Amino acid sequence: MKKTGLLLLGLAISISVSYSQQATSLMPQPKKVEIGTQMLQIDKNFTILIDGQPSNFIFDRADDFLRRLAGRTGVFIQQDRISPSMNKPVNPKMLIKVEEPGILELGVDESYSLNIDANHIKLYSKTSYGALRGLETLIQLLDSDQKGYYFPEVKIDDSPRFPWRGLLIDPARHWLPVEVIKRNIDGMVAVKMNVLHLHITDDQGFRIESKVFPKLHEMGGEGMYYSQEQIRDIINYASDRGIRVIPEFDIPGHATSWLVGYPELATIPVEYSVEREWGIMDPVLDPTKESTYEFLDAFLTEMAGLFPDEYMHIGGDENNGKHWKQSEHIQKFKNETGIKYNHELQALFNQRLHEILTRNGKKMVGWDEIQHPNIPKTVVIQSWRGQKGLTAAAKAGYSVMLSNGYYIDLIQPASFHYLNDPLPDGSGLTPEQARLVLGGEATMWGEQVTPETIDSRIWPRTAAIAERLWSPGNIRDVESMYERMAIISLQLEELGLTHEKNYEMMLRRLCRGKGVEELRILSDVSESVKRYRRNALSNVNALMPYTRFVDATRPDAPVARNFNQAVENLKDEAKHEDLEFVKDHLDRWFTNHQNLILILDNNPILHEIKPLANKLRTIAYIGIQALEYMESGQSSPEEWQEYALEECEKAKTPHGETELMIVSGIIDLIQNTK
Ligand code: ACM
Repeated sequence: MKKTGLLLLGLAISISVSYSQQATSLMPQPKKVEIGTQMLQIDKNFTILIDGQPSNFIFDRADDFLRRLAGRTGVFIQQDRISPSMNKPVNPKMLIKVEEPGILELGVDESYSLNIDANHIKLYSKTSYGALRGLETLIQLLDSDQKGYYFPEVKIDDSPRFPWRGLLIDPARHWLPVEVIKRNIDGMVAVKMNVLHLHITDDQGFRIESKVFPKLHEMGGEGMYYSQEQIRDIINYASDRGIRVIPEFDIPGHATSWLVGYPELATIPVEYSVEREWGIMDPVLDPTKESTYEFLDAFLTEMAGLFPDEYMHIGGDENNGKHWKQSEHIQKFKNETGIKYNHELQALFNQRLHEILTRNGKKMVGWDEIQHPNIPKTVVIQSWRGQKGLTAAAKAGYSVMLSNGYYIDLIQPASFHYLNDPLPDGSGLTPEQARLVLGGEATMWGEQVTPETIDSRIWPRTAAIAERLWSPGNIRDVESMYERMAIISLQLEELGLTHEKNYEMMLRRLCRGKGVEELRILSDVSESVKRYRRNALSNVNALMPYTRFVDATRPDAPVARNFNQAVENLKDEAKHEDLEFVKDHLDRWFTNHQNLILILDNNPILHEIKPLANKLRTIAYIGIQALEYMESGQSSPEEWQEYALEECEKAKTPHGETELMIVSGIIDLIQNTK
């Protein structure tokens, strides 16, 4: 039996009874789960009845569920397509009952209850959105034994901790076709997220069609943009799955792509081209001209008609103020109006945007920088710079959500994101202020990802963030999170996500099909450099290929994590299985080297990682020596320790923007020989 904080159903159950593994593997963990020992077997007669007042899409989602169930089990379930006009099954195995359709808006009731016994499944919810969440819990519960597939006996009561559980996707930096967005919406649904934040304009691209100002997408999007019809399709697809779509038009900075077609909007109106480099750029809209606001009014009004959600994001981050400083007419305006700082000038700009949005029935969302005493408290502040900013904004009376700590583009481990809490114990907020903390968003900034690699940066780590935002705050066991994340990672593939399969495909392509095994032994312990180091290490920009070894590697390299953990375990008591694991891997890395080098030699795209391969061999051998010292029961010579630690230091240097993730484990082994 697994270690768990869950309750067992019924007092008579003896402690030795084993129960479904799946019931303890749910992600996100529900608020309350009781697990019994009965099973509801899946056979071809499995049927679903829908009752109450659900939205029409519930019939489609129940049908999707049935097809997924059939797909996973291979059982040819006989029920025909589920639709409002279907023939009602007489003796349904499953009843979905929804009290009212519900309206998809911030704070919509997403609670549900799920009761399974040997004969029936009952999924009840107040709104259709609760039923959607419950269906995802149910499909995760599917389990099997020698007799077949079954759902375990459970009683689940569930509702989210936070109402805003988002994922930011950035098609501005690298263009992402509609299908990429849709499969990621499916992934979000699977882990009960409910906001898709589209960062749809930036210096490097304007990705939405404007019928009012067509040069925005025609010139700023370079042919890569969503038509309004495609956007409506994305919005409908998302809303039929309980996901709100919030567009971000990032202004007044991050706006070069606007200026390609409409340079008159710029503070310095010269000729602009779409930006190719990454970073914070100088071009900025002119906040002093009425014509700027007339333009923004017409554009945002057009967009307000396209995006139905009550919230609209105006960005507001990282205006470096250089062009404002360089511009004589801006200086003059500041002098005349008594404005001293650029922050105040931007607040004036934001106030005008706020008026436009309010007139269009929209509430404004912006990054930390938009906070200013003149900005009304109806605005939502999205905190990217730190928890402190979030707390300060909530104390000032703003609704807030957290993204700092959820930057999944920075290739940090899931554990880091998982333990990052929008509302940690000791936040210092009063209960009233705490209610202003709406949740958070994982941010998938698009500089270093393409349609081919983006899923591997979003998944499975975003499942950990989704759990932080959905589950009770005291669910924080990192080991359990990693175990469950590995399970859901494979389930997410069913939705067409490519985070697992593209790994193999990219490795295959890099070595032209010969030597995938050897290459994988290296890539399984390698990760991209963290944070913004890729920009510093090479001349990365929007046109470079993102098909190299670094792009194939994935965050949270599991072999490296398991190795470092096994070494850690050796410190307490050398368990046979940990020792074998460590030994096996050290041997594998060492003996793989000769063949690996041949493969790297023969594929020029891989030449850049030869030093990485050499270093893996060197430190693997050091690890083997360390184990020999440990087994001999004698301390290693100081001279050897010095040499070994020096080599480990060298092995920390990245090559091809990729770093070895087992150096800390090897250092621990060396320390163990002292
Ligand atoms: C941001 O990362 N500049 C919001």
